[in-house]
Formats: sequence, C-alpha cells, structure tokens
Amino acid sequence: MNIDLTMLEGIETPFYYYDMNLLDRTLQAVTDAVAGRPVKVHYAIKANSNPAILKAVSSRGFGADVVSGGEIELALANGFDPKEISYAGVGKTDREIRLGLEKGIGCFNVESVEELAIIGQIAADMGVKAPIALRVNPNIDAHTHHYITTGLEENKFGIDMRLLGKALDALELYPSLQLNGLHFHIGSQITTADPFVLLCERANSLITKVESRGHKIKTVDVGGGFGVDYDDPDANPVPDFKKFVDVIVDNLNLDGGREVIIEPGRSLVCQCGSLISRVIYVKEGIGKKFVILDAGMNDLIRPALYGAHHKIENLSAAADAPVETYDVVGPICESSDTFAQAEPLPETHRGDFFALRSAGAYGEAMASRYNSRPAAKTVLSNKE
Ligand code: LLP
Repeated sequence: MNIDLTMLEGIETPFYYYDMNLLDRTLQAVTDAVAGRPVKVHYAIKANSNPAILKAVSSRGFGADVVSGGEIELALANGFDPKEISYAGVGKTDREIRLGLEKGIGCFNVESVEELAIIGQIAADMGVKAPIALRVNPNIDAHTHHYITTGLEENKFGIDMRLLGKALDALELYPSLQLNGLHFHIGSQITTADPFVLLCERANSLITKVESRGHKIKTVDVGGGFGVDYDDPDANPVPDFKKFVDVIVDNLNLDGGREVIIEPGRSLVCQCGSLISRVIYVKEGIGKKFVILDAGMNDLIRPALYGAHHKIENLSAAADAPVETYDVVGPICESSDTFAQAEPLPETHRGDFFALRSAGAYGEAMASRYNSRPAAKTVLSNKE
C-alpha cells in the first residue's frame, strides 16, 4: 500500500489509517454513477462513523442511512440534512422514535406491523406526521455470508411479504403516518448484480400491490450491499458502482417520477482504510511460526466473527526478503484472535509494520475495548 514509512515511526500503533484521496475518488465514482438519474445516495453510516469520514461524505450532499438514535445524532452533528436521513432497524425504541420525529428525519423504514403502530401512536401524541417506508423482506438469497444476508424469510429484518396486506390495513388506523416508499436490503458484500435484478422484479410487483390500495410509492430504497475486492484492494480500489446502478435503473419500475435510494456502506469506505500495526514478537511454535501483532480482534473483529480474510502486508520487509508462512495473530486472550493462518509473507521481524487492508468498513466501527485495551487512534492521509 501507499504509505510513508517514516511517518509511521512516530505514531503509536495500532491505528486506523484512512487514505482521504482514495475516499474522494470513491465518492466521485458513485457521484458519477448516479449523475443524471433519479437515484439518491444515503451512506450507511454504520460502516464507518468516524467524523472525518462522515464530513467527507456529507459534503457531497449525500444522505444517511441510520440504525439508532446515536447514529441520528452523529449524522446531524456531521453535516447531513435531516430530510435525507432514513432510519431502519428492527428495534427502534420509543425514545429513538421521538428523537427522529423531533429532528424531522426524512423517513422511518418500518420493519414490522408492531413498530408501525408505535410510530403511529407516538407521532399522533406529538401532533406530527411521520414519513415512513415499509421495509419488506423480499425473500431473496444474496449468496453472501449467512451472518450478513438479510433478505431471506428466516431473517429478522423487514415485513414478510405475506404480511404486507396486514401492514396496509394497520396503516389505515394511523392518519399520523405518511407512507412514501418501500425499503429493501438483501445483504452485504454482494459481488454480482443478479440478486439486484431479482430484487427489482420483486419490488415492481410489490409497488403494484401497494399502489392498488391507493398509496403512491414515491421512493424505492434498494439498500446497500455492493461488494468490494478484499483479495486485491490495489487492483480494484474503487468498486464498479455503475454496474449496480445500471441494473437497478434498468429493472426497477420508475414510472411517474419515482425515485431510487441506494444505501452503500462498505463500498464507499472499505478500501480507503487500513489497520496499521507492529509486530511484537515472531514466535517459534512446533512446526509453525506466529507473527504476534499489537492489533487484535478488538480492533478488527471481522476475521474472528465472520472468518473474513483481510489482505496482510508487511510494510517494512525488503523487496527481496524470502517468503515464509506464518499464523498472524493478535494479543487478545482468545484463540479466535487470529487474522490469518498459514499466510505467506516476507520474512518478518519484531518491530515490522503490518497493514491489514480493506479495513475502512466495519473495522473501527465494530471495535471494542475487550481486554481493557485502548481504542486504536485514527490517522488521516493528507489530501493532495
Ligand atoms: N442498509 C441497511 C438497511 C443495512 O442493514 C446495511 C448493512 C446497509 C444498508 C449497508 O450495507 P453495505 O453496503 O455496507 O453492505 N458487519 C458486517 C456487515 C453488516 C452489514 C449490516 N447492514 C461485515 O463486517 O461484513
């Protein structure tokens, strides 16, 4: 990766390093992909809510997809327009619903008939009208890791298609609710466009169904999920947004000026981030060697939680260093604190700098203080 090693010397490791130029290029690519089309971008801020990242995204005029009261506050504090905030999540509390209504957010993506009733009551009590979309579970297999697939019937997300009629019946009881749209999100790290074709077909038939009941569907939010290249981040630093946007615009029924919202999270911020760490020890085992880093699963939990593999680079190794095989682990007292097993790497020594690549999404955002470790700091590249 592109990083000045002399700069690293003075900084305490581990830390998250964000390449702000690459973030800019990525934001430009998605801007270009939606230009001239009825498509709005709402960044899923759960992927990375570092204020510097949020400010860079909001300065593009993008909206935000949020999933908690905390994320509403963060989005507002970092330049997002309340009208361009959509709020999803299966467990919105009364306090969070009130907060969203007080701040005048653009849309509550309602995930159950039960939630619809509560938002309806709270909005009526407050004397306001709540703009809503119904999040429908389209029962589509996104062919991704089972922990991050969300659009199958067995998942907790969204209203089952068979219960949509019931949701529309309930809606009639609450004049405090204004139904504007439908919302979907089928999963994350989806690398082919095919699941989105199926999603559009499903959405089109649901639009017809809901509109036949006298509602106007002004927006269809197709969620996020666009995948990135974890294996070769240097070959593919910027995802092919156009591929996904084309499929959506070509297949979704956009009659009558209907608008699309996309909610990319990972695809906007993943490749600009790396977790930079130092080697504490190279430990000889029986028949294997361990590289023990000063970064652990508390800093980057994706390998331990999903078996994810992040590309690992020894930034200090000489170009002609012989290749050896190592298990790359952290210092945490858990066997799952392992970033990679039998990883081929240049011969490694105590003090070498390591980069765990493609860590800009769900890295810092999912970090914990486990083992009473301090939070990793953030270092931003200077913009050229
Ligand atoms: N919209 C909704 C309603 C979502 O639930 C999500 C992510 C997104 C948008 C953004 O999806 P993305 O474009 O980032 O794929 N921690 C996991 C990923 C969990 C995704 C949760 N929902 C990981 O590290 O892979």
